[in-house]
Amino acid sequence: MPRRIILDCDPGHDDAIAILLAHGSPEVELVAVTTVAGNAGIENVTRNALSVARIAGITGVPFARGAARPLVRGAEYAPDIHGDSGLDGPVLPEPVLEPDPRGAVQLIIDTVMASEPGEITLVPTGALTNIALAARLEPRIVPRVREVVLMGGGVHVGNWNATSEFNIVIDPEAAHIVFNEPWPLTMVGLDVTHQALATPEVRERIAAVGTRPAAFVGELLDFFGATYLTSQGFTSPPVHDPVAVAYVIDPAVLQVVKAPLDVELSGTLTLGMTVADLRRPAPPDCTTQVSLGLDARRFWDLVVDALTRIGDPAA
Ligand code: BDR
Ligand code: CA
Repeated sequence: MPRRIILDCDPGHDDAIAILLAHGSPEVELVAVTTVAGNAGIENVTRNALSVARIAGITGVPFARGAARPLVRGAEYAPDIHGDSGLDGPVLPEPVLEPDPRGAVQLIIDTVMASEPGEITLVPTGALTNIALAARLEPRIVPRVREVVLMGGGVHVGNWNATSEFNIVIDPEAAHIVFNEPWPLTMVGLDVTHQALATPEVRERIAAVGTRPAAFVGELLDFFGATYLTSQGFTSPPVHDPVAVAYVIDPAVLQVVKAPLDVELSGTLTLGMTVADLRRPAPPDCTTQVSLGLDARRFWDLVVDALTRIGDPAA
C-alpha cells in the first residue's frame, strides 16, 4: 500500500522538486497539496504549485491555498534564494487546476478525519502555520495522523540566522505548536539537506532523463544554483524539501535518532533554533526524531527514478 501524504509547501524551487518526487513515486500517494506563505506570498506560491501540477501532469489531487502570514509575526519571504515570484527562472505554464475552495487548513482536517487512523502522513516543507492551525482547530487530527515528516530546522546549523532555519524561524510559534503535539515527528533539517547537493553529476543524470519535467528541474536548478552561490557560497545548491518526501518513500535514505526536540521562542540570538537533546538515549515516550545522515546517492536515485516515471505528460 502506498503511503498517503499531504504535502504542505511554499514553492519554491526545492518544493517544486518535492511535488515531482511525490507524484512520480509509487511508494507514496499524493492525496492533497496545500500551500503556505514563505518563500513568497500566498498568491504566488499557490499559483506556482498549480503550475508545477500542470508540468507534472497531476490531476485529481486537490490543491488548496493556506495561511497568508505567520501566526504572530509579519511575513518574511526569501527572494534572494527563490526570486520575487518564489519560483523565478523557468517560464511557468498557466495553471489548469483551480484551488480547492475549502482552503488548506480545512482540507487537511477533512482529509485526515475522512481517512483511517494512522493513514495520513503530513509532509510540511514550508512554515508550519497551516499544520499548527489545523491541530488547534481540530485536535482530533493529532492522534489520527500517522506521522509528521517535515523539512525544517537543524541540530548543528542554521541558514536564516546563525542558529535557525528559514521554515522554522519565520513562524517559530507555529513550529513550537507542531513540535510539541504528541504525534510522531521526524525533523529533516539542514544537517542532512546540506548533503543533498545538486552536483554537476546529479545535473547530468537529471538532464539525461530527457523529458520536459526533467528540463524544468534543470531550469529550476540553474536559478537555485546561482542564488545559492551568491547568497550562501554553495558551489552546488542544497535541494532541501524532496529529502523529506524521500524519507517517506524509503526511510533508509536517512540516519535518524530519537531525541527530545523543541523550538526556541525567546532567545535574543537563537529565535527559531531547533534544540535536540542528544545527551543520552531518548526516554521511551519520546515521539520526535532528528536526521543526522543522508545517503545522497540513494536520494538522487529516487529523484531520477520519479522523473523517469513521470515521463512527458500531455500538455
Ligand atoms: C527551506 O527554506 C525554503 O527556502 C526552502 O524551500 C526550504 O523549504 C530551506 O531552509
Ligand atoms: Ca520550502
